[in-house]
Amino acid sequence: MKGVILAGGTGSRLEPLTKYINKHLLPIGAYPMIYWPILKLRECGIHEILIITNTDHLSSFIQLLGDGEGLNVSLQYKIQKNTGGGIADALMSAKKFVGQDKYVVILGDNIFEDSLKPYVDSYNKQKNGARVLLKEVTDPSRYGVTKIDQTKKKIMSIVEKPNNPPSNYCVTGIYMYDQTAFELIQEIKPSYRKELEITDLNNLYIKRDQLEYDILHGWWIDAGTHESLFRANTLIYNRILEGAPEKLL
Ligand code: G1P
Repeated sequence: MKGVILAGGTGSRLEPLTKYINKHLLPIGAYPMIYWPILKLRECGIHEILIITNTDHLSSFIQLLGDGEGLNVSLQYKIQKNTGGGIADALMSAKKFVGQDKYVVILGDNIFEDSLKPYVDSYNKQKNGARVLLKEVTDPSRYGVTKIDQTKKKIMSIVEKPNNPPSNYCVTGIYMYDQTAFELIQEIKPSYRKELEITDLNNLYIKRDQLEYDILHGWWIDAGTHESLFRANTLIYNRILEGAPEKLL
């Protein structure tokens, strides 16, 4: 299995920091944010990783990470042609890299406490389709939110940033896909925020009855705002204070 980290976007919610630096290079704990999704993929046994970013920041990523040897992974890079085109649009840039493999996509600003290995292992065993990880949150309107039938273990639909959330279970920024995703993305039209939404891709998998899910229990943060970036740092430093640190790299 291969890994794809989406590290483009405009980072507008983190301005003015993101006026001069890519969001995914801002510090979380002792490391730039991008380290965390790389380490999460590595923990799942995924060593071949593609980082998709924008033209302005590519050289900073290369300067920081090179070919990935220092982190014991193999990194490739690709430019998202359409900055601000949305997550599903960015994902199209991974088509050639993933080839016939199944793959795990992580949004570069998503920081997970749990190991993702059990879920990736389940996806490996899954016959076809896609898999997402959900988290119960108190502020669902910020995210893609599921209407879910927990007895049948089925997601009925997902709504992006709803005013009236159908549940408190949101879709976190880790997605496991097969080849079908690239065909389905062609069917998506830009949303109200003029982006090709990953939620629309996931809804197309639901239509085919091919979207499975697991629920995360540890903390999870989308560090895309000042407040959540601060919270991510607090949680990571708490972990360090509890004695976890150097083992990370
Ligand atoms: C994106 C997705 C959303 C998901 C979230 C997780 O939101 O569109 O469905 O719940 O990531 O971090 P965005 O970061 O684009 O607001």
